[in-house]
Amino acid sequence: MNSKILNIINKQSLTKEDLSFLISLSGAERDYFLKSVGSKYPKTLGKKVFFRGLVEFSNYCTKDCYYCGIRKSNSHSQRYDIDDKAIIEAAIFAHKNQYGSIVLQSGERSDNTFTERITKLLKEVKSVTQGELGITLSLGEQSEDVYREWFSAGAHRYLLRIESSNKELYYKIHPNDDKHNFESRINCLKILQKIGYQTGTGVMIGLPFQTYNHLADDLLFFKGMEIDMVGMGPFIEHTETPLYQHRKTLWPLQRRFEVALNMIAALRLLMPDINIAAATALQAIDPMGREKALKYGANVIMPNITPTIHRKDYTLYENKPCTDEGAEDCSNCLSIRVEMAGREIGYGEWGDSKHYFKRHQQTER
Ligand code: 5AD
Ligand code: FES
Repeated sequence: MNSKILNIINKQSLTKEDLSFLISLSGAERDYFLKSVGSKYPKTLGKKVFFRGLVEFSNYCTKDCYYCGIRKSNSHSQRYDIDDKAIIEAAIFAHKNQYGSIVLQSGERSDNTFTERITKLLKEVKSVTQGELGITLSLGEQSEDVYREWFSAGAHRYLLRIESSNKELYYKIHPNDDKHNFESRINCLKILQKIGYQTGTGVMIGLPFQTYNHLADDLLFFKGMEIDMVGMGPFIEHTETPLYQHRKTLWPLQRRFEVALNMIAALRLLMPDINIAAATALQAIDPMGREKALKYGANVIMPNITPTIHRKDYTLYENKPCTDEGAEDCSNCLSIRVEMAGREIGYGEWGDSKHYFKRHQQTER
């Protein structure tokens, strides 16, 4: 069996069957696969890990995804919206601590008040950090004009997870209506790429009805779309959401975690030069979850720098880690963890996706 694994690892191009086989591994064979990828990829990609300070600045959301704890219909969610001053302070904290870049994330809104506010914030973050802090946005589906406006104002990366690249499964985890349209979501990714954003997407792993073949197709979707960055993590059921009713059909949490790491390692083989994030949801299952992801393929980690009082309310899923610590504690704790995983922190670097520059034939910053 190990020789079959080694054979696949050394192949030039991976088929759906290869990927599905790798993703489904367990036990000693899985250990062998992960360790082989872990020793192979830092040789090509380098040992560096990049920090993105994550600011979850609001949990107001106009959408109703069936898996998400901050969905519009969850009346138990305590809604908040952090003021601009606190967001700017978080950005200054990230800059001072040499994080290189931040991610601004919130529930999805597309009204003018919101989109104009983001434009203003982007300009301000750029100005107070002398243009040095990179900015990634994770604010859902927007019009091409809005994406362009935000790009001009200083955002250069955008995260928009496809959640599942299988249309049928997509509609099992989202309402089938105008607001949650599968094709529109793919179209948004294409528009982001056309504008020039480094474009990131991702999926959840261990969803109800999901199979290894779906997951293999997800990886091929990233490759087919020439995606620059991927964030993917285990699905964690939330009591106040419709998908909770399927909890008995899910893989055990530990298996979701294992398959998530398998996905990261398989993706690293398939796309050696992209950025892969060690998703926070990994840590909700295993206290060392993110560090394990860094060992087997991930090269980006997103310390939470949301002001602490609001962290508890950004509960996309339950058991979310690091909701008590302040940003300072998070940063200390993480640097130790990254070193323990045998990696180095790329302090003060944007840590752009090498894949993006290959696509654009530009020079890296
Ligand atoms: N479990 C795991 N991940 C989730 N997300 C939302 N809800 C859950 C959940 N219950 C992820 C989605 C979204 C990202 C911001 O958080 O993939 O894109
Ligand atoms: Fe907010 Fe899905 S519930 S974007």
